[in-house]
Amino acid sequence: MENKGNFFLPGQGSTVAPDVDALFLFIGLASLIIFAIVVFGLIYFGFKYRARSKEVVLTPDISHNTTLELIWTIIPTILVLIVFVWGFKTFLTLNVVPKDAIEIKVTGKKWFWTFDYSDGYTSVNEIVVPVNTPIKLLMSSEDVIHSFYVPNFRVKMDVVPNRYSVTWFEAVEPGDYNLFCTEYCGTGHSEMIGNVKVLAKNDFATWQSQVGNDADSDMPLEELGEKIYKEKACFTCHTLDGSRLVGPSLKGTFGKTEKLTDGTEVLVDENYIRRSLLDPGAQIVESYPPVMPTYQGLLSDRDLDGIIAYIKTLKQ
Ligand code: CUA
Repeated sequence: MENKGNFFLPGQGSTVAPDVDALFLFIGLASLIIFAIVVFGLIYFGFKYRARSKEVVLTPDISHNTTLELIWTIIPTILVLIVFVWGFKTFLTLNVVPKDAIEIKVTGKKWFWTFDYSDGYTSVNEIVVPVNTPIKLLMSSEDVIHSFYVPNFRVKMDVVPNRYSVTWFEAVEPGDYNLFCTEYCGTGHSEMIGNVKVLAKNDFATWQSQVGNDADSDMPLEELGEKIYKEKACFTCHTLDGSRLVGPSLKGTFGKTEKLTDGTEVLVDENYIRRSLLDPGAQIVESYPPVMPTYQGLLSDRDLDGIIAYIKTLKQ
């Protein structure tokens, strides 16, 4: 990324970023100047008119000062009008989606993002877009309120259940940009992190043709499972080294007998893993919260076979 940003703000990665920053800078500086005038005026007059002797001095009888009153009415009015007109223009730029924008469906879910492209491809936690192209995001949540935030793009919009929200951006430079959830949404909120991959237009075309002709179909099952483990961000909750996160570690889990929250026991076999992915709430291992989202519709049968084959390789 060419524009690296500075101590105060991250680099400007989208077409709207300079507008947003300029307005922010104007409001910030105006507030700072007014603050300085008020505080220094306060100190100066406090010192100038301090009590010098014990005898009582009456305040002179001043009813008003027209010039002064006009100044402190007109200047703030002008400032407020500037901020209003400028802010409204920037608000419109941020909210009116250009007609030629490419639409991507964004779904927030505890605790990851899925992106659905018009050609049928779905990605998790990474949205891939071409540079210099307006991208429209049609967003909704499957559970609680999340918020889609890309600091470099100066774009932030709530993602709510049962309705759609819309935002858009046009990236100006290829690169990887952080994507954060900025609405506290539960245990895994801080892990709900993604990536916006901006590609040059010809790289994007290559990427599209690659994901189009299903490169996974001739991949061995264990490799496919490992790929899904990384791509679908399973590592957010399930480690490979035996340590405990939100969910149980996958290390050595296959073939183990687990105690469930309802007191019964279950053997971790192919059917248990399959059920845990498609209907996670059905059989919860004791002492873990019932928070795993369902992957129904996100994983094909072959994907499920791949994950099972991969978990089998993770011996003690
Ligand atoms: Cu989703 Cu915080």
